[in-house]
Amino acid sequence: MTKIAEIAREALEQMPPETRLRPEDKEVIARHKDTLLSWTPEVVQAFYDTLFAHPPTKAIFREGERPDREKTLEGWWRRTVEGPLDETYFAWMAKVGLVHVVRGVENPMMLAMASFVAEFVERKSHEAKLPEADPLSEAFYRLSMAVGAVITHGYDRYRALALYNVAGMEPALLERLTVEEARALLEELRRES
Ligand code: HEM
Repeated sequence: MTKIAEIAREALEQMPPETRLRPEDKEVIARHKDTLLSWTPEVVQAFYDTLFAHPPTKAIFREGERPDREKTLEGWWRRTVEGPLDETYFAWMAKVGLVHVVRGVENPMMLAMASFVAEFVERKSHEAKLPEADPLSEAFYRLSMAVGAVITHGYDRYRALALYNVAGMEPALLERLTVEEARALLEELRRES
């Protein structure tokens, strides 16, 4: 298994089974493939209108980049809706997370937009009065959580790896030092309150 596929698997396995994307979620998404695809222009437009309306997220983009970004998101949406939502898909999501790290996109921005997509599907499926609006919304909520978990885990893992490559600090040592620092900070916060 490639390193990136391993990172994706690690993230998904850390999620309690009750919270993961289930076979019935994939099935309900597959049953609504055509409807979901018909929402492509709207989801893409709403996604980028949201990012461009907020100065910290707008600042990530280069002048004139939006048309290219719209195309990549369109590709992501199509691949997500058409499936399969398998190991290859989540390994790709871990890689997409890294592409964003290179551009300075922070985890809160990624998580917020994963949630934006879930909320978009919920609103649209209820507006369209789809008989399966609730299961479809839940499927996208679970999918967004899984995508967010993979992306943020990839970010953590590669930061540790970068530190190892740059400064020779073993990931296990970084982990231990982080826990110790967090403990000290927590004690300080408790003393203050
Ligand atoms: C659910 C959240 C998101 C998804 C699914 C997503 C999806 C994608 C995909 C599939 C690509 C193409 C990756 C590749 O070339 O292999 C991409 C590129 C990019 N995205 Fe996102 N994106 C998300 C959130 C964001 C956010 C929050 C920002 C900025 C605030 C952003 C900015 C960019 C930029 C600048 C690139 C181009 C990277 C490069 O090639 O230099 N994305 N995105």
